[in-house]
Amino acid sequence: MSVADLRRAVAASRFAPVAIFPKRAARVARHDAQVVGASVRWLFGSREHHNYTYELTRRNRNHLAWYVAAVCGVPVAEVRGWFAELEGDEQLRRHIAAATVASSRRGLADRTVRYGRRLGWYAMVRARRPAHVVEAGVDKGLGTCVLAAALLRNAEEGHPGRLTGMDINPAAGYLVDAAPWSGVVDLMIGDSVAAIRSLDTPVELFLHDSDHSVAHERAELAAISGKLAPGALLLTDNVTLTDVLARYAETTDRRFLAFTERPARHWYPGDGIGAAW
Ligand SMILES: C[S@@+](CC[C@H](N)C(=O)[O-])C[C@H]1O[C@@H](n2cnc3c(N)ncnc32)[C@H](O)[C@@H]1O
Repeated sequence: MSVADLRRAVAASRFAPVAIFPKRAARVARHDAQVVGASVRWLFGSREHHNYTYELTRRNRNHLAWYVAAVCGVPVAEVRGWFAELEGDEQLRRHIAAATVASSRRGLADRTVRYGRRLGWYAMVRARRPAHVVEAGVDKGLGTCVLAAALLRNAEEGHPGRLTGMDINPAAGYLVDAAPWSGVVDLMIGDSVAAIRSLDTPVELFLHDSDHSVAHERAELAAISGKLAPGALLLTDNVTLTDVLARYAETTDRRFLAFTERPARHWYPGDGIGAAW
């Protein structure tokens, strides 16, 4: 009997689960060791305690480019150009690093600037050239800086736009408190649903990234519905956790697509971008 015949005989016998156990254990141990390694590196190498930042894997970044191309109906090469534009914006990168170090919250933030899925937000603003963007949930203001940088580039090309950032925390947005980025940003401090209700300029791009509960995401969508410009793009940061935007898209006769992050060298499994248009 050959080794191959023996393997086939064991696989077909009642001893198969026992025979394969060491191979299964080794495989899951390799995976878990990678997660433990990334976790230990993060515990001692990072200061972040929420809203983690990381780079995407190369393949995931490429998937994000194709995702933006599909949502915005633009060539993928153009999207890659916008990714490179943001990543190569040294003025913005230096500003974010310096503002992080200068902040009283520097003990809870990393000075290395990592955009993750925000590359996608940037490219969508470059592709759609919205006159009014709303970001519900600002935190330090990393996404706000990215969105403002895209609006500033659009303005250079003759398509000005403004960003309304909303956060319940009065300390939010300290990264974006500097020119030229602050020049296109209006910060509203308070509950995002109340802030959305008070808007009087049509919204062309809306991003939910505040309280990630189902109830709050639904309430924001209900409030923004009457404020949207025709053809508006709605984004959620919650797409790996809820089906709220997907359901909203279906009931309002919109299209929907989701992208899921694959962080590089991080224990966190990643967030995503849900888009309805
Ligand atoms: C995940 S962070 C936002 C991240 C940010 N968009 C970025 O790109 O880094 C969520 C933020 O939502 C804010 N938040 C929570 N509940 C809120 C509410 N009801 N209204 C407005 N903001 C809220 C929090 O204070 C927090 O700063």
